[in-house]
Amino acid sequence: MKSRKLYAVMSILTVCFIYVYYFLTNIQPGCRMKAAPVQDRMSFINQTTNRMTISHFKDVPDMTLTIRMTAKPGLLFFFFCALLRSLTLYWPSQLSHLGVILDKESELDHKFAKSLRKYQEQLGINMSFFYEPLPQDERVLTAAKPHSRGYNRQLYSSFIMDKFISTPIVALIDTDVKFTTPVTRENILNGNKLRVKGLYMFHHVWLKTWDTFTEKMIGKPMPTDFMTFFPMYIWRDTITNCRNHILKYVNVSTIEEAYIKIGSQLTGSMSPSNIFMTYAFYFEKERYDWHIDIGNGNLKKYNKLHLLPGHELTSVDMIPDLHVALHAKTHHDAENIVNRQAYCAAVDGTVLTVEQKIKQMCEPFKGHVMWVLFEFCNRNKQDHLTTWCKAKNNSCESMIREHYTNTRQLVNKGVYNLDLKKIKVVEEAAKLHAITCRPFL
Ligand SMILES: *[C@@H]1O[C@H](CO)[C@@H](O)[C@H](O)[C@H]1NC(C)=O
Ligand SMILES: *[C@@H]1O[C@H](CO)[C@@H](O)[C@H](O)[C@H]1NC(C)=O
Ligand SMILES: *[C@@H]1O[C@H](CO)[C@@H](O)[C@H](O)[C@H]1NC(C)=O
Ligand SMILES: *[C@@H]1O[C@H](CO)[C@@H](O)[C@H](O)[C@H]1NC(C)=O
Repeated sequence: MKSRKLYAVMSILTVCFIYVYYFLTNIQPGCRMKAAPVQDRMSFINQTTNRMTISHFKDVPDMTLTIRMTAKPGLLFFFFCALLRSLTLYWPSQLSHLGVILDKESELDHKFAKSLRKYQEQLGINMSFFYEPLPQDERVLTAAKPHSRGYNRQLYSSFIMDKFISTPIVALIDTDVKFTTPVTRENILNGNKLRVKGLYMFHHVWLKTWDTFTEKMIGKPMPTDFMTFFPMYIWRDTITNCRNHILKYVNVSTIEEAYIKIGSQLTGSMSPSNIFMTYAFYFEKERYDWHIDIGNGNLKKYNKLHLLPGHELTSVDMIPDLHVALHAKTHHDAENIVNRQAYCAAVDGTVLTVEQKIKQMCEPFKGHVMWVLFEFCNRNKQDHLTTWCKAKNNSCESMIREHYTNTRQLVNKGVYNLDLKKIKVVEEAAKLHAITCRPFL
């Protein structure tokens, strides 16, 4: 009897130990990744923030603003000059830290992380760096012929992001994103549902291969183009669920195999984000708050052409919503107007005192409506100005005004300090990588 009791206690302890071990190492039992250390613990920076004390975000689940990149000069230019400068102003550091997933074998990436980490206090944003090993099956790197090795790796990497990021929400961004306004809770969640935006883009040729690839991976067509807004907020377990679905649907045992099998059939590009959101649309619709702009076409026709029976869009899926960021690489702004308008709109009517120089700069923008919050890029004209907001629709305009009423209160409470000194800090950090940004304002 005694030995049976002891045995039971030992078993429980063993199970606990295994769970604690898996929890600490962030490795999921039974997954193929376990051969490789998923996270370089030595370089792990404190992931938790103290935002629970800030009332505005207290009910927002933990989140990681996530970026998959490598320290290449072309990417670093956008990372520092567009993303990091705007991020330090407009992304509330109490809301989440920044998680950067890098190439494990790249010395440059380790150096980049090391130099950047030094600035986190000055920038007021905590950072975590994760190092992803090369895929075990190197055929991943050449699977999709139209793409370089690096790009194949990055695309593939999206499917295993949940192995690195442990927070319930992954807020996905690219290196070439530019924030255009302070981000509020309302921009992220509607109640407890994550906001998603889509835009009619099916007339572009690349949508065909994105759609084909999505169908081959998950068996469902894209209901819209989701690659039209940032950050893309995804429940972390949607990524896990989507991957498990892919394994079943493609009939393979690892996501590497799926990527190689389907990627090698591809003639154009692919979009993992569209795969996740399409999966979410068909399988987890209730967990997200959908804002899909179908253009000026007919809804009945649209549903027939792009949706599966029983999943048709209705008016509740099509309510306008604004953007907090745009795609800097494809948003031309030769006169650098957007940053100035954005900053002026953010400080306008707040208790912040700004320098005389800034006051003068803002003078011409008095009363200006920030329509840019309904734009994503202007090279391919991805915006809602001639659809949702055509003829400067009043409801779009009041949405913009309401947003700024909200941000003003938060600025006054100190949630954002809009301190331009942080811009100088980013520029200094960029210089270490021989990158010179043009003036921010
Ligand atoms: C991380 O947290 C520990 C205590 O939990 C603290 O000593 C350390 O300074 C923190 N590091 C950073 C970079 O914030
Ligand atoms: C960064 O992390 C440290 C340690 O957890 C915390 O004290 C600090 O408040 C965090 N900073 C921000 C801006 O959230
Ligand atoms: C799935 O793959 C296995 C082995 O690779 C094969 O035996 C099986 O027939 C396949 N199933 C389907 C439905 O194609
Ligand atoms: C503005 O857009 C909303 C939502 O698309 C629509 O319901 C409303 O009728 C539009 N108003 C005008 C004046 O066009």
